[in-house]
Amino acid sequence: MKRRKHLRPLSLLLCLVVVLALLLSTPPSSAQRGNDVERRVNALLARMTLAEKLGQLQQLDGEGNGNFRPEHLELVRKGLLGSTLGVRNGGQPNKLQRVAMEESRLKIPLLFGFDTIHGYRTIFPIPLAEAASWDPSLAERSSSIAAKESYAAGLRWTFAPMVDIARDPRWGRITEGAGEDPFLGAAFARARVRGFQGDDYSQPGKVLACAKHWVGYGAAEGGRDYNTTEMSEQTLRSIYFPPFKAAIDAGVGTFMSAFNALNGVPTSANHFTLTKVLRDEWKFDGFVVSDYTSVKELINHGYAANDKEAAWLALNAGVDMEMVSRLFNQHGAALLNEKKWTQATIDEAVRRVLRIKFRLGLFERPYVDESLEKTAHLTAESRTVAREIAGKSMVLLKNDRETLPLAKTVGSIAVIGPLADDNRSPLGWWSGDGKDEDTVTPLTGIRAKVSSQTKVTYAKGCDITGDSDAGFVEAVAAARSSDVAVVFVGESKDMAGEAASRVTLDLPGRQMDLVKEVARAGKPTIVVLINGRPPAIGWIVDNVPAILEAWMAGTESGNAIADILFGDVNPGGKLPVTFPRVTGQVPIYYNHLNTGRPPEANNRYTAKYFDAPWTPQFPFGFGLSYTQFKISNVAVSATQIRPDGTIRVTADVENTGKRAGDEVVQLYIRDVTATITRPVKELKGFQRVTLQPGAKRSLEFVLGPEHLGFYNRDMKFVVEPGEFRVMVGSNSQDVIEKTFEVR
Ligand code: GLC
Repeated sequence: MKRRKHLRPLSLLLCLVVVLALLLSTPPSSAQRGNDVERRVNALLARMTLAEKLGQLQQLDGEGNGNFRPEHLELVRKGLLGSTLGVRNGGQPNKLQRVAMEESRLKIPLLFGFDTIHGYRTIFPIPLAEAASWDPSLAERSSSIAAKESYAAGLRWTFAPMVDIARDPRWGRITEGAGEDPFLGAAFARARVRGFQGDDYSQPGKVLACAKHWVGYGAAEGGRDYNTTEMSEQTLRSIYFPPFKAAIDAGVGTFMSAFNALNGVPTSANHFTLTKVLRDEWKFDGFVVSDYTSVKELINHGYAANDKEAAWLALNAGVDMEMVSRLFNQHGAALLNEKKWTQATIDEAVRRVLRIKFRLGLFERPYVDESLEKTAHLTAESRTVAREIAGKSMVLLKNDRETLPLAKTVGSIAVIGPLADDNRSPLGWWSGDGKDEDTVTPLTGIRAKVSSQTKVTYAKGCDITGDSDAGFVEAVAAARSSDVAVVFVGESKDMAGEAASRVTLDLPGRQMDLVKEVARAGKPTIVVLINGRPPAIGWIVDNVPAILEAWMAGTESGNAIADILFGDVNPGGKLPVTFPRVTGQVPIYYNHLNTGRPPEANNRYTAKYFDAPWTPQFPFGFGLSYTQFKISNVAVSATQIRPDGTIRVTADVENTGKRAGDEVVQLYIRDVTATITRPVKELKGFQRVTLQPGAKRSLEFVLGPEHLGFYNRDMKFVVEPGEFRVMVGSNSQDVIEKTFEVR
C-alpha cells in the first residue's frame, strides 16, 4: 500500500494560514459580538468608581440652541455625565465628546439624544398623519431620513417612536402616535424603529431609537396631559402594550418611562411595568431613561416623600438613566450606604447603559463628521419623499358632486383662512430643527400648481384664535369674485403636542364662522383641515361639499395639498382615529365593548345619548378616493379551526372607477362570546393596494392564535372556543361579514 506522504511542513503552514485568514475575515456572529460587548462592559464596569457609575445614569439638557452648558465640561471631565438632551449641530457634540475621550479618566463616550419625532430638518407629516397612510413602509422611510439628518447633527439617539395608544383626542399628544388601535400602532412602531435603527444602529446614518412613554400615558383622565391613568391589566396588555412589544421585537435599544401614575403607581417607579413585564417577561436588555424630571415628580405624585426616596424608588423599580433631575447622583452614595440600593442594582443599570453605548460603536467612533451638516439636511430627495408621504397621509372625508379634483386651468380661486399661508403650524409641535421658512404653504403650493392664467386671491379671514371677524368681508369678497373657494382651517403648532390638551374639539377662534360666511357666498367651497387631532366639524360636514383632512403634514405640506386638490395625487389615506361629532362623545373609539344594551335608535333604554347620535362623524379606517372600489367574495378557508389553528381569509378588491387609486382593505374580527367581554371588532389585518381602473385583485389574510387570543381573567393569553366573526371592508363600519368557529 502506498505510504501516505506526510504533508510537507510548508503545505501544513499554508493550510493554517488559510484557516486563520478565513477566521479573521469572517465577521463575528451576532452571538460572538454580543459576548464581546458583555466582556467589554464588565471589564469597564470593574474599573469604575461609584461616582463614575452614577455619572453614566445622568442625562442633562443642553441650551435650547443646541449648545452644551458650561457646567457640562467639568462634569464630563470628571466622568459624571453620561448623556445630553438637545446638544447638537455646530460641532457642539464633538467639542464635548473630546473632553470625554481625551480628558476623562475612563474615556467613556457621551450619548447625544434629541427629539427627532417626525423629521430633523426635513419635517415629515406628524405621526398621526403618517399612520393615516396605513403604509408602515412610509414611516420607515421617513424615520430613516430623520435618522440620517440627526446623525449629521452629531446625534446618536432619538426619543422616538412615541407609541402611546390614544383614545381621547382632547389629549394633545394624540398627534405624536399612530392613533387608537394597537394592531396599526404596532405596525408603525416596528417600522419606525427599523427606520431609525436599521439592522445595526452602529452604522453611520442610524440612531438609537426609544419607545415611549412607557406606559399608558395616552389614557390620561379627561384627556388632560400628565393626568392619572386607571385601567385593568387586560386593557393594559391588549391595548397599550402591543406597540411597545412590537418595538422590542424590532430591536429598539431604549425605553422612556412616562409621567403618569398607572393605577396609583407612577410609571417612573412602577416595578410591575419596568421590571416584571419589561425585563422578566419581555427580556428587554436595553436601558430605560426617565422622562424629563419624572423621577423628581414622584414627590408630586405623593409616592416619594423627598428627593432621596424618589431616587431610591425609581432605580429599584427599573429606571436606569435619569433625565435632567439629578437625584440618582445626589443621593446614590447615601442610598448605597443605607443599603436601600444594592451595588448589584447600580451595576445592572450602568451595565445596560454601557451595553448600548458599545452596541452603538460609540467607543470606536465617538465623533461625527461635521461636514455632513452641510450636505445631509433638507436635500431635494428628502423633500420629494416628504411630499409623497404627505400626499399618502391625507384623507378625503367628503367629495359630493365630484367637487374635487379642481382643474389646474380654473379661472379663479380664492385661498382663504388662517392656515392658508401659515408656514409654522404644518410642522407640528415636535419639529426638530425644521425651519418655518422651509415650509411650502398651501397658498404657495396652489400658486405653483395652477395655470398662469388662473387668478389666485388670498384672504386670511381671521386668526386661528381670537374673536375678531374683521377679515370676513375681504374673505367673502374673495370667494364671491372667484370660481371656487378653498378654506384652510385647523390648529396652530402649539395646539397639538405636549401640554396641549383642549376641552373642545371645535375649531378654535372664529374659524367655523369664517367657513360659514364663505360657504354662504354661494361658490363651490372646499375645506382643508390643518390640525393635529380629530376635529368636531359637524356644520362643515353637513354644508360643505368637499373636505380634505391634510393634518400637520410637514415641510412639503402645501405642495402635497395642491397635488391632491388638482388631481395629481388621488387621496388614499384612512383615519387612524375615530372622528367624533361632538366633544361630548369622547372617548369614542371603534374597538369598544358591546354592553348589555347596545344602542338602538328606537329604544330609549340603550347605551346612547339623548342629545346627540352615538355614532361617530367618521369611523376609524374611513377615507374616500377620487375613484371607487368594490370589495367582494370575502371567504374563510374553514368553518371551524382548533384553538392553535390558523384560518385564511380572502377577498377581492376592484377599482370600479375611472382613475387609478389606492384602497386600504381592512380585516376585523370579533370573538362573540368569551370569559372576558371582547370588543365588537378588532383590526387584525390591512393591505393598501394600488389599482388601475377596472383592475381587480385577490387579497389573502392569515389569522392565527396571536390574532384570535386575548388575556383571560388569569392573565393567560388564550384562544377560547366559540363563534368568531370576520369582517372585511374599506373602513371599520362598511364591512362584509363571515363567521367560523373555534372548537
Ligand atoms: C418631554 C416629553 C418627552 C421628550 C422629553 C425630552 O417632556 O414628554 O416625550 O422626549 O421630554 O424632550
